[in-house]
Amino acid sequence: MLIKAPRGTQDIFYPAITLWQRIEELALQVFQQAGFTEMRTPVFEATELFARAVGDDSDIVNKEMYTFHDRSDRSLTLRPEATASIVRSFIENGLQQTPKPQRFWYRGPMFRYERPQTGRYRQFHQIGLEAFGVSSTSIDVEVVTLALELFDRLGLTDITLCVNSIGNQASRSAYIAALKEFLAGHLTSVCTDCQRRFNENPLRMLDCKVVADQELYKQAPVIYDYFDEESLHIWSSLKNQLTSLGIKFQEDSRLVRGLDYYNHLVFEIKTHDPELGAQSTICGGGRYDALVAELGGNATPAVGFAIGEERLVHLLSKKAEVNNKFGIYIIGEDVLANQKLALGLRRDLSLIKVEYDYDGAKFKKQLEKALKTGSKWVIFYMEAERASNKFKIKNLETAQEFEGLSYDELLQYTKS
Ligand code: HAM
Repeated sequence: MLIKAPRGTQDIFYPAITLWQRIEELALQVFQQAGFTEMRTPVFEATELFARAVGDDSDIVNKEMYTFHDRSDRSLTLRPEATASIVRSFIENGLQQTPKPQRFWYRGPMFRYERPQTGRYRQFHQIGLEAFGVSSTSIDVEVVTLALELFDRLGLTDITLCVNSIGNQASRSAYIAALKEFLAGHLTSVCTDCQRRFNENPLRMLDCKVVADQELYKQAPVIYDYFDEESLHIWSSLKNQLTSLGIKFQEDSRLVRGLDYYNHLVFEIKTHDPELGAQSTICGGGRYDALVAELGGNATPAVGFAIGEERLVHLLSKKAEVNNKFGIYIIGEDVLANQKLALGLRRDLSLIKVEYDYDGAKFKKQLEKALKTGSKWVIFYMEAERASNKFKIKNLETAQEFEGLSYDELLQYTKS
């Protein structure tokens, strides 16, 4: 029997891989321009880290973690998200003592045991960032703009930014009490998940995907009515700053997110792609001022987000331009000469692909191969060219030919 990749995982290879690379290159540019440096943490961590950070009663910890015991009987978990890991590393490596703000971005695989479908996988990839040490709402806004900037540079236009505030602890407790009072009378009509959530984390009931439940929760009390002065002030300054920057957003008082560590700002960026359906959220994040202390560090304000890369790739692959021709193919009967030329060109043109035929096949065969590789340029490196040390090239996109080029001219032409 053929061995297959585990359910909910994917192999990523050419041509799709070029989109992944483009997204990650752009993320690096956008985030580094804003002072974020990349951080890489292990893909598995002590199980307790996620139980404490994400929340014991969250769906992620309850039902979705890949947890195993290693040979020394330690309980380990394949990371379902990276915020907890970044915070652990931030504390463990003494990064709290480095100048504020401390800003990190990351990319890599995450693991959740979910029911696989378009846009939802068991191994998926996130690109995210986390900023520590600033309580001013200007950094919340900076973080939101960075996600939007990345989407913009990728040419993604049909997206909606949804924002909410879940206030500080005191406001949230007051709201939860009111919410419980409202919900208590309706418990028999809500889904079994919500019945469980009522006892464990009633706020999360607002996030339920069951339509009938959603209708009911529309009549529930609204969180802003329970905000104290601090929560109100932060919420209005967030909205004012977004508005001043001309950033369009939808206010959604029932947006609560599925992880426990948030306070004040929570946000999601959604697409309107029908195939993604319920998986339309391509980015989620918010502020989490209590998590660093919760995991044993000094109290440190923090905010961040994570983007689902598979969902982004799905959207971009639909509008990807026809694969542009790229690179150079050298044609000539002397394999060794081709090889020498290729080595030199690869060095002098760094990022450009340079290929040749290893077998020294007949001219026509080599040309066929050049066409199949999708190269943009062919260099005809036949006996005459080798003897005169001049180059003849053809642009396979435009069919234009150029002859008698010096090596420097060859570099100039093929760079484009
Ligand atoms: P999250 O909402 O759990 O947040 O995940 C962020 C994004 O990852 C989602 O919006 C979605 O695009 C993608 N995603 C989640 N699960 C899957 C899946 N099974 N398959 C494919 N894509 C998925 C977090 O993980 C937080 N750590 C975000 C954050 C960072 N908050 C503050 N800092």
